[in-house]
Order: sequence, then C-alpha cells, then structure tokens
Amino acid sequence: GAAGAWQLTADSPDDRVHLTSSARLPEPFTLPLRVPSPLTPIRRDATTDYYRIVQRRANAVVLPGYSTPIWGYDGTFPGPLLVTERGRRAVITHRNELPVPVVVHLHGGHVPEASDGYPTDLLSPVDTMSPHDAMMMTSDPLAHTMIGERDYIYPAGQPAATLWYHDHRMDFTGASVWRGLAGVHLIVDPDERRLGLPSGTRDLPLLITDRAFDATGAFNYPAIDPTALHTPGVTGKFGRGVLGDVILVNGVPWPVHRVGTARHRLRLINGSNARVYRLRVDMPRGDGHFVQIGSDGGLLREPQRVDELTIAPGERYEVILDLSGCSVGDRVDIHNDLGDGNTTRVMRFEVVERVADTSTVPDRLSEIAPLHRHDAVTTRRFDFRRGDSGSMSGWLINGRPYDPREPIARPRLGEVEIWRLSTDLDHPIHLHLNQFQVLSRNGAPPQATDAGWKDTVYLGASELAEIAVRFTDYPGRYVLHCHNLEHEDMAMMATFTTHT
Ligand code: C2O
Ligand code: CU
Repeated sequence: GAAGAWQLTADSPDDRVHLTSSARLPEPFTLPLRVPSPLTPIRRDATTDYYRIVQRRANAVVLPGYSTPIWGYDGTFPGPLLVTERGRRAVITHRNELPVPVVVHLHGGHVPEASDGYPTDLLSPVDTMSPHDAMMMTSDPLAHTMIGERDYIYPAGQPAATLWYHDHRMDFTGASVWRGLAGVHLIVDPDERRLGLPSGTRDLPLLITDRAFDATGAFNYPAIDPTALHTPGVTGKFGRGVLGDVILVNGVPWPVHRVGTARHRLRLINGSNARVYRLRVDMPRGDGHFVQIGSDGGLLREPQRVDELTIAPGERYEVILDLSGCSVGDRVDIHNDLGDGNTTRVMRFEVVERVADTSTVPDRLSEIAPLHRHDAVTTRRFDFRRGDSGSMSGWLINGRPYDPREPIARPRLGEVEIWRLSTDLDHPIHLHLNQFQVLSRNGAPPQATDAGWKDTVYLGASELAEIAVRFTDYPGRYVLHCHNLEHEDMAMMATFTTHT
C-alpha cells in the first residue's frame, strides 16, 4: 500500500474552495454508469485514423430534472472516447465553436511540439475573433494562433496506455476543464491483447471528476478575479484549488454499474481540478482490494495487490476488480477515504448475474527497462512552493511564475536526467513529452504505487522525489506543471525546451 507521509483528512485545515451544490442531488448509486463506445474515424488509410471533433456549447443531463450547460468535445461531457492502435497515427481535426480560444493537450502522449498543446498554442473560435485579437489574449510573443480549425497529429508509437485529453489554455485551464473539456484516449496494442486481461464490456475507462451545481443545475465555478493575481500575500483567485461536493464518474453522479461475477479492468483517471481521492473497495464479505496492473504510461511489469489507491489530479491507475467470488445481489462500493459526506462515495458495482469468465491476470504484464541513476548526465532541482514574485503572488517553481519566454531547463534528447522535485504543500507534478520513473521518495525507495511509467507524481507537503526521465524524439517547447488546475492557472508551470 501507499506509505506516503502526508495525509489529507476532512478536517485538515486548508484553504481550498469547497463548493456546495444548491440543486437537488440524486441518491448515490441510483443512476446507471455511462460506458462510452469509441468514436468512429471519419476516414482511415493505411497508416492513419482521421477524426473530427467540434468543441461547442451544449446542454447535458447530469442531474435528473436539470439541464446543465457545458462546453464539450462534440458537445458531450466527458468528450468522445478515442482508441488508437499503437503504431497507427491519429489525426484529429478540432473545430472551435466555443466563445474562447482553446488548447488541446493529450495528457501522457508522446507527441511532437506542434501537436502537444503548449498553453499559448491557441485555437481561436470560428468566425468570432481576428488573428490580431487572438494574439492580444496572450502575453507570450511566441504564441501561435490558428483560427477555427486545426489538426492535432498523434504518432501513437508508445505502448498501450490510458491517456486523456483536456483543455490547456494558459491561465484558464481550470475553468475550461470544469465546464467539460476532458475526454479519454486509449492506446491499445497486441502485446496487451495477448495477456488475456478482462476486455470488451469488462474493460472500463472511469473518468472521475468532482463538480458543484447551482440552483439551476449549472456547474458552479468561482468567478475569476484578475486583481487577485497582483495582490501580494493573496494566493490568486482560487486559494488552493476548487472542490465540488458531487462525484461524477464518466459524467454521472455516483453511478451504479450492473455486472456479472467476473473480473473487471478499471482504468481510473482522476480528471478533477484539485480533488485527491484515496480509493478503497468495500466488499460485502471478504477483503476488498484492487490488483494494480497499470499506471500513467501503461502496464506495470507485474500485478500488485493494493488495499487503497491514492489518485491525484492527472494520474491514472489501472486495476483489476475481481467480482468472481461475489454472489448475485452483492453490492461492491468504491469508497473515497479522503472525502466527507457524499464525497466519500464514488460508485457502486451491483452483481446481477453469474457469468463465465475466461480472463487472466498473468504474473508478467510488460517489460520495463529501468532507468538507472548512473545513466543520468544531469541532476536538476525543481521546488514547487507558494510565494511572491514581484507584484504577483501565486504558486511558483524555483521561485518563478510561469513565463512562456524563459525555459527553466534545456534537456538534450536521448540523455537521461534526474529531476529532484520538492514541495511546500501537496502537489501532483506532471511533465509533458515523456514518461518517467520514480527513483526515490524522501530519500527512501518509492512507494509501491509509484511503480511503472509515470507522467504525474503526487507529492505530499514537504516531500522530495527523484525521478529519472529520458526525453526522446521531439525537439521543442514543453511544460512541467502542477496538475492541481488552480495551481497551474496560478502560474505553477514552467517551460523546458528539448534539443538535439
Ligand atoms: Cu493533464 Cu499539462 O496536463
Ligand atoms: Cu500544486
């Protein structure tokens, strides 16, 4: 299990923004889970699947009896599920019919600079804005703007993994993701299929987000107060992050999923702005636990039993939930130990039939070549800490707020580097471009759930982790940042540029 030194409990003093819904909320575990089916390409050729996604406003039924205005990929929340076979390119034409510029980032994807979704690489609304107006919306002289439509090109050469895509516009990611701009993108491959893991309807992407609703059923999000950006001593507009009191899985509040007595593969994705979950399985008898098989970047080397799973914003964990020992009528709940009231609940599996199950969970899942300390050519330090910088107060990296013009590091492609990450409070730290391996935590070996390839590592208060990373293939401008989206929007981000 997780041996993290830091614990968030319901009564921890913190200045997160806790939002309380005023709409009528459903009874937990009454609404059926929505299981997305993959988006169909508009065209395929020998090497590539082509998709088209329109980002637009829509109304969604999230709470029964209400209509919730959202910003959605194809007008849905979550956005469409994308599934790409390793080695095939995915070319996704995004059209922006929203009232603001957008940036699409494929989180966990190994992607060239031009398609990575740098925070000032904007796609401006169709017809509503001149290129000049769009440029004026960012302070980055290197900003790049396209109007209306553009292609994002994903080579998908990486191993099978649970990736997700979401908005990434500088200063506004939190608000845009909260409105609905997030979806799941899976990479699949033959190596994984050969293993015989639970598949088909027993392979479930579960995008977990918290939200709050006003009396009309609209999503609540604190209004942006730009003056707070420049008030020393005030940490920006959102305190330490925005929390809602309703837990949605695939856009459904506290869903129930009716299943047979079989193993299920759960692809847990924390798409919440700032909420950290500690997930646990409540079994009617016997001991509830997960078997972890994967992490951010794909399958682990071998499965491992985990009794609880701490998942911070941006992270993914893939687990097997084994219901083969259950009886018809059993209810198996996924519980959040870090919540209070209704946020302790996440979702329920209700066993409704006996079924045959031929899935297996082999002892060896994948080959992972370890990155060794002695392979590293450089050690860099990145300290994530609240502070003041000039007239600005926010969340800083090495004492500096996000500045697109000033790279904080220039790693050379192909070389292994060690990055020492340290914190004041808890922060989920995310790197673009490549997956990394966690070498240590607080001078001790990493915790069990740090295993495998990670792109986001969750550090508690005053923690220190060393990660090893080899940046590969693509020269250009990328970011590292805190994935608490309110911290990210309050400048806890930095640019690194890779070069040959
Ligand atoms: Cu999920 Cu840079 O983000
Ligand atoms: Cu943070």
